[in-house]
Amino acid sequence: MFDCVLISSDEGFRHLALGIIREPTNNARLALDIQTLADGLDQEVVQQVMQANPDVIFLDLGVEPSGAGGIQSLSQEVPNAALVVGGPALSAEGLLAVMRAGASEYLPRPFSQTETLEAFQRTVKRRKVKAPGQAPTLGKVTTVFSAKGGTGVTTVATNLAVALRVLTGKEVLLVDLAPGLGTASVAMGVHPRYTYVDVVHNFHRIDEELFLSFLEIDDSGVHVLASPLSPMGVNELSEEEIRSLIGLCRNQFDYVVVDGGSYLSNRLGSVLGLSDERLLVVTPELPTLRNLKQALDLYGRENGKEPPKLVLNQYRDGLGLTSRDIEDGLGHRLTLVLDKDDQRVLQSINVGRPEVSVGKSRIAKKILDLGRKVADAEIAAEPRKGFLSRFRGSGKSGEKTGKKAK
Ligand SMILES: Nc1ncnc2c1ncn2[C@@H]1O[C@H](COP(=O)(O)OP(=O)(O)OP(=O)(O)O)[C@@H](O)[C@H]1O
Ligand SMILES: [Mg+2]
Repeated sequence: MFDCVLISSDEGFRHLALGIIREPTNNARLALDIQTLADGLDQEVVQQVMQANPDVIFLDLGVEPSGAGGIQSLSQEVPNAALVVGGPALSAEGLLAVMRAGASEYLPRPFSQTETLEAFQRTVKRRKVKAPGQAPTLGKVTTVFSAKGGTGVTTVATNLAVALRVLTGKEVLLVDLAPGLGTASVAMGVHPRYTYVDVVHNFHRIDEELFLSFLEIDDSGVHVLASPLSPMGVNELSEEEIRSLIGLCRNQFDYVVVDGGSYLSNRLGSVLGLSDERLLVVTPELPTLRNLKQALDLYGRENGKEPPKLVLNQYRDGLGLTSRDIEDGLGHRLTLVLDKDDQRVLQSINVGRPEVSVGKSRIAKKILDLGRKVADAEIAAEPRKGFLSRFRGSGKSGEKTGKKAK
């Protein structure tokens, strides 16, 4: 049960918040109702809120952003509560200032019922990730990458993230570090409001709550940290920034899957060095495979580490190369072979719903197998019969997913 405090004298905001709190399926209850605005918060009110010890505070700034101080004092005095803040429409800078002050969610006027409910649901889901003060999780980081564009890195990474979530029920974060395209978010069907750039810019003051507010959640419960939609103006991350970013992710999530992209940069090298598992996606083309053999031999010699595990993607019979030939030629075993299935893969990307959460295709089954390998002994139970179907058509609107297929 989520204890909620409502601080607002605005009829519209009160109506929406009370509707959410009183809706039985939201598992919430009203612990305290204060009819004032954020700039009317005095110490006495803050004391009352502290005593109520809420999980969620609905706080109204009114029509001026002047109540931002109220956010700060509540987030300091009641650090365990998540703040869902309503107020005037803000510039990007104003919005960041409000998030910096401690808001988990910001709702600009005029309020929409759907957005208010989604903000509440995101807040509640985040709280389930990890209660403040809990010991760090130290999750397992798996980076999927390639030496060549278009092999299927994003397809494997997004599906693996959903597979891990489905198989273990644990908290999974997909981090899109492929520079400057944001394609993993599209494939997951989420509309990111922030990217890893926001996380990096806020390192100096980041805590669990702020970090979680930069993430989106897909229908299966996988959290997503997006990459910027355009590479323009985005600086290369330093090794230190990558170390901090990956540390932050693995502190709060059981599994972190990184879409490392297909550009062999220093950035990718640093991420690979920090990863527990490295999955290299290859396609069955002889010239690429020849280069790959050299790269794998070199990798082994230089790093003294196990070479990455190989995922052969877009494989089909009749290419003049069997998967056995490829293993023999490379001198390395293939961890996974995924068939070429144009229709399913493209459709799942276009509707923003990874194949693993859609159906029981060969690709879905094989990625679940990969998930079992990555999750090792941590699989609580096999997915229940019909479990996956819960994600089918689970109410994603085209508007929310921004889906491309019309
Ligand atoms: N197994 C598959 N069968 C058929 N098509 C596939 C398969 N895997 C990926 N594709 C297609 O290949 C294209 C590239 O896939 P994806 O975006 O996953 O690759 P990527 O390596 O992440 O590419 P990029 O280098 O652009 O980031 C997509 O159009 C996708 O539909
Ligand atoms: Mg990609």
